[in-house]
Amino acid sequence: MAVPAPNLPPRVRIHEVGARDGLQNEKTVVPTEVKAEFIRRLAAAGLTTIEATSFVHPKWVPQLADAEALYPLLGGLPEGVRLPVLVPNERGLDRALALGADRIAVFGSATESFARANLNRTVDESLAMFAPVVARAKAADAHVRGYLSMCFGDPWEGPVPVAAVVRVCRALLEMGCDELSLGDTIGVATPGHVQELLSALNEAGVPTNRVGVHFHDTYGQALANTLAALQHGVTTVDASAGGLGGCPYAKSATGNLATEDLVWMLHGLGIETGVDLGLLTATSVWMAERLGRPSPSRTLRALSHKE
Ligand code: HMG
Ligand code: MG
Repeated sequence: MAVPAPNLPPRVRIHEVGARDGLQNEKTVVPTEVKAEFIRRLAAAGLTTIEATSFVHPKWVPQLADAEALYPLLGGLPEGVRLPVLVPNERGLDRALALGADRIAVFGSATESFARANLNRTVDESLAMFAPVVARAKAADAHVRGYLSMCFGDPWEGPVPVAAVVRVCRALLEMGCDELSLGDTIGVATPGHVQELLSALNEAGVPTNRVGVHFHDTYGQALANTLAALQHGVTTVDASAGGLGGCPYAKSATGNLATEDLVWMLHGLGIETGVDLGLLTATSVWMAERLGRPSPSRTLRALSHKE
């Protein structure tokens, strides 16, 4: 039953990251055809933004080293489905554009420790690496997302000052990114912190309609944080089917907010997503069988136990 609550948007766009953020963190490398089938099933469940893979150095993320083989398998998806891919540098952009990718994402860090661990660069060196990527992607008419990791806390540096996050967000937008995604990479955020950061961004001239949120669920706060963001006006929420996920370069990063948990809450609030929860749950059950382990999603467990 849907019971609306005040100050919430009528519709939310879910940015599905299971095939990228989820599978990049699996110990086993998932066969390319299984990844393609996962993405097809996600699209059939009504997800329209499905992050497909990353064009990063194959030694850094071996789980996604098959990007060149995977991307061409993804033709023929329903109209309107978008397949963003992660690209850290010009080499990655060349690889993505050669395959016809039209939505890319660069991924920066609010902290020096994670910039070093994830990109082998300082924060400013990473921004310098992204600048030509964003410029060339825009010249090629691609949509560009700018991820920012460690927006709330960092496993090496502790709590992250809001001002540091605002500085890098502004730099990414000034560079030409169309949208930002605020990453709580290790899942330590709480709702007041989320609203404080969104307000600080607004004060610095960053409008909420350019900002998405990307919560990991380490401390069980991802849904509460999402609701806080929605109340602030955010309408793009990242989530991962079955709660797959983490980051290989951030110790203590666990799974993302599960898409099933998000959809359950949004539909319960009467917010449209376009997603068929039954088909999505079946997809995540199918994927969990391929991975040989159960999903951490509470909604998925509740719904699949019913059957
Ligand atoms: P580096 O070692 O500094 O690379 O890594 P380099 O620029 O010195 O180049 C070294 C060699 O790598 C060169 O080859 C390049 O051509 C090659 P050589 O000339 O020596 O033969 N190379 C590449 N090959 C293929 N594709 C490429 C590429 N780039 C260079 N794109 C680099 C720098 C950025 C490449 C590396 O650090 C990297 O690949 N990092 C990716 C890490 C990653 O993918 N992390 C996970 C995603 S981020 C995340 O999960 C967080 C997020 O979910 C949000 C959140 O939760 O916070 C988004
Ligand atoms: Mg992530």
